[in-house]
Amino acid sequence: MIKLTVNGAERSFDGDPDMPLLWYLRDEVGLTGTKFGCGIAQCGACTIHLGGAAVRGCVTPISAAEGQAVVTIEGLSPDGNHPVQVAWRELDVSQCGYCQCGQMMQAASLLTETPKPTDAQIDEAMTGNLCRCGTYPRIRAAIHQAAGNAGTTKPAAKMPGSKGDRL
Ligand code: FES
Ligand code: FES
Repeated sequence: MIKLTVNGAERSFDGDPDMPLLWYLRDEVGLTGTKFGCGIAQCGACTIHLGGAAVRGCVTPISAAEGQAVVTIEGLSPDGNHPVQVAWRELDVSQCGYCQCGQMMQAASLLTETPKPTDAQIDEAMTGNLCRCGTYPRIRAAIHQAAGNAGTTKPAAKMPGSKGDRL
């Protein structure tokens, strides 16, 4: 029997200990904010917090969560007003949205460890979170805004695939 907490609620699981946390959260708990992208730790769509650190739910077995606190996008804040979520809304970061829960969980983890990150620190922390829509400039700006860094400005809207986008 695996015991864990999910967004503060105590839970237990008596199934396959090798089940990826992503499956557990989506199929057993019904928390569908965490997304499946690649299944091999290459895209970041499934990013959650385990014991306070950002991990990829698609390659983390539920057995690794024994006695640990799991937090998903649904539990990042009680009212959807974590500074990252506020900044994401204010800067209209999302395009299709599929990658964005993972992006916000990764960004929240970064800001916990590095409250005032530089561009380079943001890029390093976020490099494993892919966005097919190319929202990278807005993600970086939103992280600066969430951090309260000076000089944050809304980046100009542009089409995905513009020069400088990482696709
Ligand atoms: S689905 Fe987990 S990293 Fe892509
Ligand atoms: S907003 Fe569409 S994949 Fe990132």
